[in-house]
Formats: sequence, C-alpha cells, structure tokens
Amino acid sequence: SCSFASADVVEHSFHVQNLTVNRLCRRQVITAVNGSLPGPTLRVREGDTLVVHVFNKSPYNLTIHWHGIFQTLSGWADGPGYVTQCPIVPGNSYTYRFNVAGQEGTLWWHAHVSTLRATVYGALIIRPRAGRTYPFPKPYREYPIILGEYWNANVVDVERQGLASGAAPNNSDAYTINGFPGDLYPCSSNYTHKIKVIKGKTYLLRIINAALNNQLFFKIADHNLTVVAVDASYTNPYVTDVVLVAPGQTTDVLLTADQPPALYYMAARPYASAAGVSFDNTTTSGIVAYEGATPSTPRMPVLPAFNDTPTAHKFYSNLTGLVTGPFWRPVPREVDVHLFVTGGLGLAACGKNATCGGPLGQRLAASMNNASFQLPTKISLLQAHYENVGGIYTTDFPSQPPLKFDYTNSSNSLNRTIIMTTKSTKVTKLKFNATVQVVLQNTAFIGAENHPVHLHGFNFYVLAQGFGNFDHARDSKNFNFDNPQERNTIGVPAGGWAVIRFRANNPGVWFLHCHLDVHLPWGLATAFVVENGPTPSTTLPPPPSDFPKC
Ligand code: C2O
Repeated sequence: SCSFASADVVEHSFHVQNLTVNRLCRRQVITAVNGSLPGPTLRVREGDTLVVHVFNKSPYNLTIHWHGIFQTLSGWADGPGYVTQCPIVPGNSYTYRFNVAGQEGTLWWHAHVSTLRATVYGALIIRPRAGRTYPFPKPYREYPIILGEYWNANVVDVERQGLASGAAPNNSDAYTINGFPGDLYPCSSNYTHKIKVIKGKTYLLRIINAALNNQLFFKIADHNLTVVAVDASYTNPYVTDVVLVAPGQTTDVLLTADQPPALYYMAARPYASAAGVSFDNTTTSGIVAYEGATPSTPRMPVLPAFNDTPTAHKFYSNLTGLVTGPFWRPVPREVDVHLFVTGGLGLAACGKNATCGGPLGQRLAASMNNASFQLPTKISLLQAHYENVGGIYTTDFPSQPPLKFDYTNSSNSLNRTIIMTTKSTKVTKLKFNATVQVVLQNTAFIGAENHPVHLHGFNFYVLAQGFGNFDHARDSKNFNFDNPQERNTIGVPAGGWAVIRFRANNPGVWFLHCHLDVHLPWGLATAFVVENGPTPSTTLPPPPSDFPKC
C-alpha cells in the first residue's frame, strides 16, 4: 500500500527464544528472533518511528542494539548491555522506541550482551521518505546480504570457556550468507542462499557484516560492484570487483546483471590482516542465478588472500562521501577535544598460583591507552550519568597513551610494563555540541590486527588512514576535509592508524569499542558521556517506564 503520510510508526514484536536449526550435518539449539536465522528484516522510511517490543523467552540476559542509528534524544533505546541499559532478564520484555531521521541506507540490529549476537541479528533498512529518491538510478530490486559466523556449539558457552581459559575462544565452524554456509561446506548445498536476477537489470545489494571475529572480502564471479553507501551514508559511486566489510559495517552496492545468463557464486572469506593471527580460510558462498540459466556449476570468484592488506587498504581508502547527498554536512574545522587513542591487544594478570592460556602464561586482554574497560554490573553507565550515581565511572580517560613508543613493531615493544593492561572505568565527558577528533593508533604488542572501532550514536568523518605511527606534522596535511566518507565503524589498519572527527550533538552515553566480539570483554572500549544542551530539545528525556533495572 502506498502511504503519502510524511512519517509512520513501524511496529514489530521480537520473540527471542530457543530454535533448533540444521547446519553442517548437525542439529543445534540456538537463540533466535521470531524463529529465524537471521532474524526479521526491519524496513522503515527516513523520518519514521520504529517501535520494537522485545520479549525475552530465552534462558539468557538480553539487550538489542540498533547498530548505526543516531538515537537522537533516545539513548535509552540504544541497547548495549550495562552501557545504556541493564539486560532484559529471561521472562521480561522491553519496548525500544526511536525515531529514524537524518540517515538512509543499510544498518542492522544485534544482541549486545555476551556472544548472543552470533545468532540474534538482522537487517534494518532505511529507505528515503515519500517523495524523495535515492541519489543513484532506481534499482530493479533490492536484496539484503548478511554475512555471519556460525558455531556448532552454544555460543554463550564458547565465550565463557574462552574467557575462563585466558586464551582466545574457539573459532567458528562456518561463515554464512543469510544464515547459510553455502555449497563449499558439508551438508549445506540444499540451503545455499540464492538471489534471482534478470539480464540487463540493476540490483541493490545491502551487504552487512554480522560476523563476530573477521573482516570479510566479498566478491561475485565476473561482475563489478558499484559502492553507493557505507554505514547508511551515501558515497560517491566507486566501482570495484571486491568489497571488504568489517564486523559492524555495511556496504550498499549496485550489481548490474550484464554477463551471459548463468549461475555465479557470490562468496566471502576473512581478511585476517597479519601473519600469525589465526583465521579460518573457509569460504561461504551464495548463488546469483540469472533467469533462464541452465543448471550448471556456478562460476567461482577468486578472492584476495587472507593477508592482502594492499587490497584492503585500497578499498577502504578510496571511498568518499557524497556531498550532494541529502544529509551531508560540512566537516567541522575547529576541534574542541583532541584524543590520541592506542588500541590493541595486551595481557592481564592471570591470578594467583595459576597459569592462563594466553601469551606468557597470562590472560589475553585489550585496551585503549592501556586502560582495559570494565563495564558496571549493577547499573548502566547512562543511568548512573542521568541519576548522578557516583562510583560507577570516572571522567579521566587519558587524552593520550601513558608512554610514547613505536606502536607498530611487535618485536620491539613486547615490553611487560606496557603489555600488561590496567583495569579501568574511565570515560570522556563532552560538552553538548563539542567537536571531537580521535586519532586511532593500532598497537602491535601481540600481533597487528585490523580493529574495527565502532562509535555508538554518531557517524564520524574519516579524515585519513595510513600505516606506521601517526605523525601529526606529516599526516594532518593529508586530511580530507572536502568529501571524507562518513561511517559508524572504521577498520583501523593493521600496524597503522585512522583519524576520525564528529560533533557530539546528542546527549547520552555513547560506547566506543572494537567490534571484534571478544575484544569487548577483553576491554578494547571506552565511552563518551555527552552532557545536555541548553534547551529542552537538546536534553535527554527520562527513561521509559519499562526500562530494565539490574
Ligand atoms: Cu554493533 Cu556496540 O555494536
């Protein structure tokens, strides 16, 4: 039905409960939303209000995060566990209610407590409001392509065992496309995800990386892809034969069916980014089936190697923002708050009389500026901020690391004083509307990895990215102020850095963390507490009446 109302209320119910699925020759009980993996695709128009009633019928504590949604004045609905809310306990419910404005494209939703997001996730698609169109030719059809990761195990137990041992949790058993591993895995070929195309037509693929631990290269045999948006923010059209998507990121591409009618594989596999970092070299696949194609073995694309950093860097650094897009705003040129944040893995003490499974017999940990962030357990950060409850966090997050050294050389810097992280609850307090620049400097104490750093509540401009140690005098000359890409998640290059800038125009508490799942409990995180502005329309309202308490 066609609605010409300027905005609608779109309402959904999420019933979260056990589901038995068949994958990889086995039956496995998972936690899923409304009986499907992935869960429901939510579709709204820009300007709509989304209302989702979440009923937790699972045995686990649960929250849902609407990844990339600005949550303007609705921080109580953002969802990260113990950051904005306490979890919805089994048997309880919570209604997430928020306006979706000022952004269009592909986002997604996922559980944001323990490892549940491995199976509790789905697409959130924002189309232009009535009367407006895409800033590119109208596609014939649209397909969400959700990349995921699957364990032949209970994922909550996998994480628990990993954290208890001090080493990394077990790798997944498969990567997936829309919940299915695809033809190259055992017992999977009857369920391979398939999209249909007609020769001559153009399709919009909304690619989401919902995997927990790996960036993924994605390719379709014999076809080019034109990137038109990332993280629900329009880009200048960028033609490529391979896309790289970090966990948390989305990439919208146009696919024109311009090849001989046949079957073609779409496929994805990890970019692990450094020799020595463990990865799983299996490939997930789906099928692009032309109308009228005769059944045959689909053509297979050649994916980049797992350590192909030049291809990764080329893709990420060539994207630019569409300044003629409907929501483009010029980059703020004055910076109120400068942060230099090192991020990477480190170690934490194993505990008395024990040897842990991490390097040097210690426990694997992670940090920003050597501070390993610990979430509260009895109240959320946002509630503590709103109610002025002391002792939950401190506002002394360091604006630079405790020591300056060669961050990118793992053999030089394997130094116990630095490698041992310090537990922290340090956040940064920001005045309403402050402009913030963060230099994200990757560290390589324990192997250089590309860390996808995600900021809740805002898009940021990516001013520059590069390799080695960030050098202000040298690198600030290359900042792109004209048309930088806007994102909510940036893959900070392995052995390198990225510079982001944003305006803190949304009061609340906003998490900044690595979207490699286990790096979050390890502490690769901090938060921004943004104060209220001067007017009612810049003041965070009170929490809803069903807001979960600890
Ligand atoms: Cu997609 Cu804090 O997460």
